[in-house]
Amino acid sequence: MSILITNIKQLLQVHDSNVTIVKGEAMKTLPVLENAYLYIEHDTIIEFGKMEDCDGLYPETTIDATGKIVLPSWCDSHSHLVYAGNRTSEFVDRINGLSYAEIANRGGGILNSAKLLQKTSEEDLYKQAMERLEDLIKMGTGAIEVKTGYGLTVDAELKMLRVIKRIKQDSLAKITPTLLAAHAIPEAYRKNKSDYIKLITEELIPEAAKLNIAHYLDVFCEDGYFSIEDTEAILKAGKEHNLRPKIHVNQFNILGGVALGVKYNALSVDHLEELNDDDIAAIKGSKTMPVALPGCSYFLSIPYTPARQLIDAGLPLAIATDYNPGSAPSGNMNFIVSAACVKLKLTPEEAINAATINGAYAMGISNMYGSITRGKKANLIITKPLNDYTEIPYAFAHNPVESVIINGEFR
Ligand code: NIG
Ligand code: FE
Repeated sequence: MSILITNIKQLLQVHDSNVTIVKGEAMKTLPVLENAYLYIEHDTIIEFGKMEDCDGLYPETTIDATGKIVLPSWCDSHSHLVYAGNRTSEFVDRINGLSYAEIANRGGGILNSAKLLQKTSEEDLYKQAMERLEDLIKMGTGAIEVKTGYGLTVDAELKMLRVIKRIKQDSLAKITPTLLAAHAIPEAYRKNKSDYIKLITEELIPEAAKLNIAHYLDVFCEDGYFSIEDTEAILKAGKEHNLRPKIHVNQFNILGGVALGVKYNALSVDHLEELNDDDIAAIKGSKTMPVALPGCSYFLSIPYTPARQLIDAGLPLAIATDYNPGSAPSGNMNFIVSAACVKLKLTPEEAINAATINGAYAMGISNMYGSITRGKKANLIITKPLNDYTEIPYAFAHNPVESVIINGEFR
């Protein structure tokens, strides 16, 4: 199977050499080729260039992209795609004045989703998540990290892992699974949290490692959830089983989770709605990607990640949806790119870098995804006719995507 896309108005994120991350000042640059072509064979980007140099290619299919923009599909590095049902009643409670913490303290929140997930069959969970994923693919997502975390028992967490494995096998989109057993303290362990930590470190992590589905380990490091000591115990156990951290930190409070994540060579530290100079200093010089989740700030009406401080300090930044039923019930990356511009004050170039190459980095896949580079996977967005790529974030809540190519297949 070979596809040639011709007359591309703007081909974005083109790199001759295989970049895997962009940081600081360099995030302001988004390499663009005007009036371009792109040639793919099977699932791989083979060639691209200016239309005037498009010669000697004999594709099976040609797509005319006159007036349209082509870019790498979005890499959503933080999602809770697998969950059961929804939490609309809590949404209304929050409109009526209750906070996320107040709802959680009444037994709502993550525990509410866990109760429902434990009762939901593997088949049903798979169907619900696949339906969501199909919607996201149409909106331009070509790679997505998916966490467990609504199981909160050994059985239910392993059930989630098996569901994620099936999605990974069946979907054309690239899926990276993360074990998030430490998402909340289950009701039964309220009075003896240390027993739940033990269950995670001594049973769940070794069992999950045996299944070899997840490569990453997450902890919700937050007041009322997992302290710094809890988080360290869990990361330590993960390290023994080759699970690299990608952790929830600084959503409501600064506990020191950023420095702890860096100490354990976290691939990413996510949320960061609260941030101080020590956090920025800790990330400097590390291999850890800070990840902002503006959909969560929007939905919960909490502060937005001070992204400018991070980028202006020379650090990289990724943006992701945090798609989940409690704090961000939307997986639309187009909205996230727009919100990053409007609320985090990223330029369109920075936002697109954050949602493609840096998103791929935060999933550990940027050697194969996130840029238009020869040899990388053919995961592409073809937009509706647009005058310029800045219209993607500008027209917030519109869908700029006309079609997608996922793993070399046109959709
Ligand atoms: O990233 N903060 C922890 N986890 C999710 C919310 C999960 C939920 O409310 O169900 C988040 O915001
Ligand atoms: Fe999350």
